[in-house]
Amino acid sequence: MKAIILAGGSGTRLYPTTQIINKHLLPIYNKPMIYYPLSLAMLLKIKDIYMVVNPQDKSLFEKLLGDGSQFGIRIQYVIQEKPRGLSEGILLCSPYIEHEPVLYLLGDNILYGHDLPKLLESAKKEVESSGGAYCFGYYVHDPERFGIVEFDEQGNVLSIEEKPKKPKSHYAVIGVYFFDGQACKLAQNVKPSARGELEITSLLEEYLKLGKLKVKLLGRGFAWFDAGTYESFLEAGNFVATIERKTGLMIGCPEEVAFRNGWISKEDLLKLAKKMDKTDYGKYLRRLAEEEVHAF
Ligand code: G1P
Repeated sequence: MKAIILAGGSGTRLYPTTQIINKHLLPIYNKPMIYYPLSLAMLLKIKDIYMVVNPQDKSLFEKLLGDGSQFGIRIQYVIQEKPRGLSEGILLCSPYIEHEPVLYLLGDNILYGHDLPKLLESAKKEVESSGGAYCFGYYVHDPERFGIVEFDEQGNVLSIEEKPKKPKSHYAVIGVYFFDGQACKLAQNVKPSARGELEITSLLEEYLKLGKLKVKLLGRGFAWFDAGTYESFLEAGNFVATIERKTGLMIGCPEEVAFRNGWISKEDLLKLAKKMDKTDYGKYLRRLAEEEVHAF
């Protein structure tokens, strides 16, 4: 499976800051926002990653992440000329993905929870073996802000609506989607919504029409943030800070995932640590290389 990470968009909800810097490069506590979805893809052992970026920001992403080789992965940048909606990311990556299943991640989503890799791994396996689209629902207090999913009593999906004025439930679809090899074809059916965007929920509706959409609800053991507003941005940063200080383990650290996956050596990790040895991040990488960080 390959992964697409959507890191374009205009970030207007974080103005004035995002007038001059891309939202996904802003720090959530001690590392750039983009590290979180990137680590998630790497946790699933995905090595081919397509990063959808705005033309003016490509060089900044390249400066930070390069071609991914320092993490033992391959990152390719795909330009989104204008933010036309989240489904466009699939269309833009069609030449690279073609008929393969794909993990589609929104670059401003942060997900944390017990046994998260296991949960995602089983979704990945299901899509690879049985096809369809697999995504996750999370209870929210402000459903008007998200893509909202409605279920029947058996837990089957009845409808999915983008930012509904009258939400049919409190379950938001989070920005972690697994699609089978039909995604590129189905994304071509997506028409612009009333606000003129190719919504990701419209692509999910295409799968729903085929009876091939699964939405699994995330229980109380999970924390999910869409860090696209000042409030949620701060909330996510505070959450990461608290968990990292309490557990002594990092969330969203691609160097750590690369090392634990065996994609980079101890020497590689020490080299990466050296570049930032003035920070706790660098010190963490050093301790990791010296096997002073516990595994779980
Ligand atoms: C996007 C999607 C929405 C989803 C949300 C999750 O909204 O359009 O369906 O629930 O991400 O973060 P946006 O944050 O781009 O407004």
